[in-house]
Amino acid sequence: MQASLGRANNRPMPTDSERTAALADLSDDPYPIYRRLREQGGCAYFEEMDRYVIPRFKDVYELDNNPAVSAREGSSLMFRAMGLTMRRLDGAANRRLRASCQSVLRGKAFTSTWLDRFRSAADELLDELHPRGHADLVAEFAAPFAARAAKLLIGIDDVDDRDVAAASQAFMDGVANHEDDPRVWARCEWANCLVDDAVSRWRGRAEPGTVLRSMVDAGLTTDEIRANAKLFVGGSINEPRDLITSTVWALLRNPVQADLARSNRALLSAAVEEALRWISPIGMVPRSMRQDGVIAGVRLTAGTPLWVLVASANRDERRWENPDTFDLRRASQGHVAFGHGPHVCLGAFMARRTIGATVLPAIFERLEALDLAGGAEPQPRGWVLRGLEALEVTWSTV
Ligand code: HEM
Repeated sequence: MQASLGRANNRPMPTDSERTAALADLSDDPYPIYRRLREQGGCAYFEEMDRYVIPRFKDVYELDNNPAVSAREGSSLMFRAMGLTMRRLDGAANRRLRASCQSVLRGKAFTSTWLDRFRSAADELLDELHPRGHADLVAEFAAPFAARAAKLLIGIDDVDDRDVAAASQAFMDGVANHEDDPRVWARCEWANCLVDDAVSRWRGRAEPGTVLRSMVDAGLTTDEIRANAKLFVGGSINEPRDLITSTVWALLRNPVQADLARSNRALLSAAVEEALRWISPIGMVPRSMRQDGVIAGVRLTAGTPLWVLVASANRDERRWENPDTFDLRRASQGHVAFGHGPHVCLGAFMARRTIGATVLPAIFERLEALDLAGGAEPQPRGWVLRGLEALEVTWSTV
């Protein structure tokens, strides 16, 4: 057993420039780094970032069963960005907040209230775009669609779609602000005011079936409602946006895969699962050691922060054959892109139904001969959150 004293023994602290270079490499292409970390072990010390990380599938899958592990963080970026949300609470405190809103997010309650409205929102955007024959699917479809769906679902209907999208980006940038950029914190401040004001306006009149109404009915305090509404603004926009566009890109860059999906639209749901595995929209979730304990054979002391590398687990060669290849024919459902255990994503049902069974069929039905526009190959970016910055596509207008 390897022993650890929080920071790995006797190793020099990485310099600022080493950290900056490692963060840039992670953002450009994290997968070679993840491979190296997986080779190191189930709990690896990531020297350039001075962090213990969990890079292999099996250990990510089992991590939250370990009573020494907590979702709380010593100096949580999420806490600073949006307050104390369910994602940073353990045990009964987490379960209480989850229970306040999970019934509206799954099963019949979700499908009957929201799916047709979301299809209409997708159709409206596609109606506007269709005559043009080209678009950046990130900025002109996926981002506004996800923002509109999120604000309706949360129950803050009068906030401008672009403001909701900008607030979501601000929160997510805050959560990933390992560089401590003050401009990112300033945008978070703005986003906090936007959501707090919207919650104040809507909490007394949010529609049944919305997240806000269910949190109010469950008796959450104002602070709890505010923080968790921000969690929803952050979590229900960027990841769906990235998932929509990563799936479309994965299909269009590979004609065999695109033809398979076109010839059998039911395979679009399989493509979404494979895209979740291949470019996991949330690449890393943080945890910390609540007490001394052993993780994958490594002894860690209380307070040690951990990075759980979801995106690495989803490309673990011990679990997946040819993990770097996108193939919608593989059985990808066992991925951990929605997490696993007590914090498993509350929006997973919604994301699957909305994107796999509604939005992608709408895109492929409505935009005939959809193809990548010429020019530079789109490039996914980010590692805590990963997705395309732009996806220029063309289609036939005749
Ligand atoms: C579309 C792609 C999405 C992906 C890949 C994704 C991924 C994740 C992951 C990995 C976690 C676990 C975090 C952890 O273990 O610390 C999580 C939690 C969560 N997600 Fe999602 N998510 C997505 C969409 C959504 C949507 C649409 C919503 C809301 C409608 C949502 C709401 C939440 C909430 C509230 C949690 C916190 C659960 C808890 O801590 O108990 N997510 N998500």
